[in-house]
Amino acid sequence: MCKLGINIDHVATLRNARGQFHPDPLRAAMILKECKVDSVTMHLREDRRHIKDNDIFLIKDKVDLPINLEIAPTEEMTKIAVRLNPRSVCFVPEKRMEITTEGGLDVKSNMQNIERLLNYFSNSKIEVACFIEPNFNQIDSLKTLGVKTLEFHTGSYADSRTEKILNEKLSLIKEAAQYADELGFNCHAGHGLNYNNVHNIAMIKEIKELNIGHFIIGESIFSGLKNSILKMKEIIKTARK
Ligand code: PXP
Repeated sequence: MCKLGINIDHVATLRNARGQFHPDPLRAAMILKECKVDSVTMHLREDRRHIKDNDIFLIKDKVDLPINLEIAPTEEMTKIAVRLNPRSVCFVPEKRMEITTEGGLDVKSNMQNIERLLNYFSNSKIEVACFIEPNFNQIDSLKTLGVKTLEFHTGSYADSRTEKILNEKLSLIKEAAQYADELGFNCHAGHGLNYNNVHNIAMIKEIKELNIGHFIIGESIFSGLKNSILKMKEIIKTARK
């Protein structure tokens, strides 16, 4: 079975638009639990534009669901992650002005920094991952660092404008997933996935977990959070059969 983590950052985006309390990410996390998703994903950005420190600690305290915390590869964020002690941490690249995470982490050019940050986790059980493009060189760099989990950025696939480009991007993800799996990586994937494009990705047997956020939260305006999640779970389950 392919696991599903739901990213609830955009519940906080909506809440923050009014600077008050509604809609509450804690309530969203409780619905995730009801839907039996495998984890709750939150991206604590350096500028705290959506999820905030208080949210992640409150959800850890109140909801019995594994947390996947996405953070920029910095010392400040790493220290917060160690304090939170989530199931997993995923290092993602972060630029202040971007609307969303625009690409994978360039592990190859950041080896020293990532290696230094990995030391913070050496006495914990936190699973550390990096969010990368489906690229063999990046996978090799992670192998050198001893990182065992990776998440493929599916954004280029999801944004493909033609069938031809879509198939090319899908092939890259499939080949990278096979390569990473052979090297012993635990492969995850996410970004830009929706009801229409998730099937192809969920069919890749080497990918063990998907993290989906923006589409589900957007769709929940029309169908409710629970229904949106359950429909996504069903599509993923069917793809895996
Ligand atoms: N995985 C990672 C590492 C991400 O950074 C994001 C976006 O924050 C997602 C998954 C989810 O992407 P989306 O919101 O487009 O579903």
